[in-house]
Amino acid sequence: MRGSRILGTAFARPNLTALTSSLPSPSQVSRHTRSAASSLPRATQKHARTAQFSTSAGKTGSLSRRNDQESRKYSTKSTQGEAPPFAFAFDIDGVLLHVATPIPGAPEALKFLNENNIPFILLTNGGGKHETERVKDLSQKLGIELTTDNFVQSHTPFRQLVEGPNSLREKTILVTGANAEKCRLIAEAYGFRNVVTPADILKAHPEVFPFDPLLDTVYTATARPLPKPVFTPGSGMNLKDALKIDAMFVFNDPRDWAYDIQLITDLLLSQEGYVGTYSPKNGDAALPSCGWQQDGQPTLYFSNADLLWSTGFHLPRFGQGAFQAAVAGVWRRLTNGHELQRRVIGKPYSETYQFAERVLATHRHDVLKSRGHHEPGTLKSVYMVGDNPESDIAGANDYQSEAGTEWSSVLVRTGVWSPEHSGEKAIQGRFKPKVIVDDAREAVRWALKREGWTGPAL
Ligand code: G3P
Ligand code: MG
Repeated sequence: MRGSRILGTAFARPNLTALTSSLPSPSQVSRHTRSAASSLPRATQKHARTAQFSTSAGKTGSLSRRNDQESRKYSTKSTQGEAPPFAFAFDIDGVLLHVATPIPGAPEALKFLNENNIPFILLTNGGGKHETERVKDLSQKLGIELTTDNFVQSHTPFRQLVEGPNSLREKTILVTGANAEKCRLIAEAYGFRNVVTPADILKAHPEVFPFDPLLDTVYTATARPLPKPVFTPGSGMNLKDALKIDAMFVFNDPRDWAYDIQLITDLLLSQEGYVGTYSPKNGDAALPSCGWQQDGQPTLYFSNADLLWSTGFHLPRFGQGAFQAAVAGVWRRLTNGHELQRRVIGKPYSETYQFAERVLATHRHDVLKSRGHHEPGTLKSVYMVGDNPESDIAGANDYQSEAGTEWSSVLVRTGVWSPEHSGEKAIQGRFKPKVIVDDAREAVRWALKREGWTGPAL
């Protein structure tokens, strides 16, 4: 399949083994979760009791698709009955929210799952705020209690790059995004020690960008002194004393495309990542890829590949994937058609699903344990509820769970995909969802029916 080959090379599968293999083990993960579960509002416990009452009265229908198995009596009161072997992963934009506005039915669906101890995580390609801040924000908007233990955003897996043998903790990285200063603070919170932003370089060397910078006030307000001076030819400066960037990260959708593309491309053309240099290998036909990106240039990471995303506007809007396509387009133009080598994570990439599955398994384990399910059992199925066939649906369809968990893709009609706008042609092959439903609430109802749930109705 030509597409994937290019994709294969262009989007060099993120060498995320470092990212996933050093994922925290269940015991390490969530000191929060235990507190989260026990901090469930009393009311919820009351509901749980009543819900239990109904089930123990034998109203156990068995719509279970697993007809051959004894229909499961799901209890919501702890220690009785089996823990639900299924869980949910919810996309955010276009499923739960349109930017800041809850999508009808979504808060109710999450509240229902919380009240019935059916574990779920939020798995978004969004980003730009630290997880703690974003979770607080989402809890307020959706009116339910969320913790960072059941929340994964596009750049969350980057935090693992400060661990392991190829740790970037002490290296110098460049970060950008909608608000590069905020991205710097997130990167520092993740453990990266030397974080530079485009503002730092522009304020130290305005000549790197000959136009009036769009975000000049922001740059002036947020620029920090550079850890090392930018190399200036003829200055007698020793290259080793100059500013070297070891990796570049796009945390979320940049705003100043012109300057960011200039700076990122400068570093891709540089000698070993030294700002202000140009690699003698560039364009050398005797070298692999004609010497492009063959001289220790910094790795370029994108946190997600979404070309489009769903906001309040009636037509989908450009996402980080559009910026990535612009960088790749300029690179192809500069290099006579060479593909930009970069690392891309986020949905649909399996590394992000593997990361999310581990977070979900740990969260589920702790929530159910804290509810008295001493044997939570294995997580048999996850329902990925999304609005974007290219990220949510393809990602869930492609993902081969290391735990043998079945991931089912559920497409809602409240976001990027709509029969009128993208239609049937956009949901063929790996983009084909297991089911299409109106919204998040219908998605939960469909899954509960499929699982033979006999507890309270949503
Ligand atoms: O920038 C966010 C966008 O790309 C999509 O976010 O929540 O739909 O994965 P989400
Ligand atoms: Mg979405």
